[in-house]
Amino acid sequence: MDLQRYNTFRVRAEAPSVRVIHSVGEFTSVLHQLDTPPYVLGEGSNILLVDDLDRPVLINRIKGIGVVKEHDNTVDVEIGAGESWHGFVQWAVEQGWGGVENLALIPGTAGAAPIQNIGAYGREIAEVLLHVRGLYFNGSRWEWLQLDGHQCRFGYRTSIFKQELQEKFIVCGITLRLTRHHHDLRVSYWSLQKWLEQHDISTPDVQTIFRAVVDIRRQRLPDPEVLPNAGSFFKNVFVTEEYYHKLKSQYGELPAFEQDGRYKIPSGWLIEKCGWKGKRFNDVGTFARQALILVNYGTSKGRDIYHLAGRILRDVYERFGIVLEPEVQIWPRHYLDNLYREYAIPLPAHRARENQL
Ligand code: EPU
Repeated sequence: MDLQRYNTFRVRAEAPSVRVIHSVGEFTSVLHQLDTPPYVLGEGSNILLVDDLDRPVLINRIKGIGVVKEHDNTVDVEIGAGESWHGFVQWAVEQGWGGVENLALIPGTAGAAPIQNIGAYGREIAEVLLHVRGLYFNGSRWEWLQLDGHQCRFGYRTSIFKQELQEKFIVCGITLRLTRHHHDLRVSYWSLQKWLEQHDISTPDVQTIFRAVVDIRRQRLPDPEVLPNAGSFFKNVFVTEEYYHKLKSQYGELPAFEQDGRYKIPSGWLIEKCGWKGKRFNDVGTFARQALILVNYGTSKGRDIYHLAGRILRDVYERFGIVLEPEVQIWPRHYLDNLYREYAIPLPAHRARENQL
């Protein structure tokens, strides 16, 4: 069965079967019948399908949003994994509740959000997440498991679900703690600050931040419904202070953000410096306003996007000695290592060895 409608790059790939799941009970009974672990998809907005899949695909559509606990200043909300993330953010903002307004308009489902610890405009889901609940494969059968935020081992665009629990855990629901009175609004991100200045707003509320983020994203990022893409294709990179100073002396305009003694460099800037911004290569390319986003102008082959990624990886490596790492998941999984091998680039540091840059 073809997966084209289930991924936002809109590429074709076959799977032996595709089934839409609406409840935990349905998951349990279907998993019981399968003799191989399935691939699980939400909206397929962070995935590149390079080839056909050899295992069944389950589409997670568990719905429901409900308040589970109220405190003086906080409210705990449970969200079904198959809910649209942005739909939930909109609902929370309508209630006047804070914590997720900076994460507006991120494509995908609520269940996918903790897997890569979605983040934008100064906020990550890790900061508001209480629990993730789901089904865990213990080696012989699937059992119910709840993890708290600490157990999820969140990092920049990563979590336990992308590491030890990869393909062993199916997110069924998440619980977030939102605020009623907002002492921790995040407005320091450069583009958000600029927007607020331009609109002459000095004390924004939750609704204003939401509006600002929606506006910025609409201006800056391509709508996958119009131009198929999967958001940032690569993660931003962390380099040592020494390497940062070396680069900065060569490129005075280098944007970088200090974090715990290391420097985060936007991969979009590195890619742009290599001449890739807005460049089209057959039916694929990078977005004209954001080089970090790979877009599909009409190919049905994930392999075309894979090769574009390889060429970008190689150019950034040759020019800066920096190994970029995809943020999107590449399926089937062995194509990730293939990509580095095919383009003769060392594996990204955290999978090979500690980054020496
Ligand atoms: N930049 C360039 N050229 C480009 C793109 C960016 O020079 O082509 C520079 C910008 O000028 C700016 C800096 O890079 O100085 C940062 O750019 P931007 O604010 O657009 O953010 P980003 O680092 O490219 C990250 C996330 C986005 C998130 C934004 C806003 C990652 C991999 N990406 O992008 O997340 O929306 O910050 O918080 O961390 C996603 O994960 O899919 C995603 C879109």
